[in-house]
Amino acid sequence: MAQIRIRNTEQVITGEENVRAFLNDQGVLYEHWDAAKLPEALRHRFNLSDEDKEQILAAFDVEIRDLASRRGYLTWDIISLSDATPNIEELLKKFEQVHTHTEDEVRAITAGEGIFVIKGSDEVGYMDVLVEEGDVISVPENIPHFFTLTESKKIVAVRLFIETEGWIAHPFEDPAFIKA
Ligand SMILES: [Fe+2]
Repeated sequence: MAQIRIRNTEQVITGEENVRAFLNDQGVLYEHWDAAKLPEALRHRFNLSDEDKEQILAAFDVEIRDLASRRGYLTWDIISLSDATPNIEELLKKFEQVHTHTEDEVRAITAGEGIFVIKGSDEVGYMDVLVEEGDVISVPENIPHFFTLTESKKIVAVRLFIETEGWIAHPFEDPAFIKA
């Protein structure tokens, strides 16, 4: 279940409803899917074949289509990252740069976990949002953020797009950002 840590105050927010309310207040969509819909074997697999990816998309087809119809996403795919990903350490270093997109960045986590670092309101500042299997999050367009993995370095997520071009990362130089 998702958990939020406010970097400036070290405040931690837990519990699905509290997390949902806080993120919605910050303009960040948060929903939750039943991760148990995924066949057990796939809940712990991070090096995925094309068939595995198709099976994951099929398991959450209803949820994906519901989200897509509500929010205008036209395409979706599966992204997986783990120790088996070539150059994972370099990739993670590259990820840890605050940036924005002209389209929202939506991810439904189907296995593993990760952290979205998102710039909230002026009062809140940057927050670390830990997302785990079943968590669905959408970082709004033009909101500074980045994504990283936890120590376990394992995640599988559904990505949804309005148009893939909208997802290009624009670096955001922010003096207010403090590295954890
Ligand atoms: Fe991003």
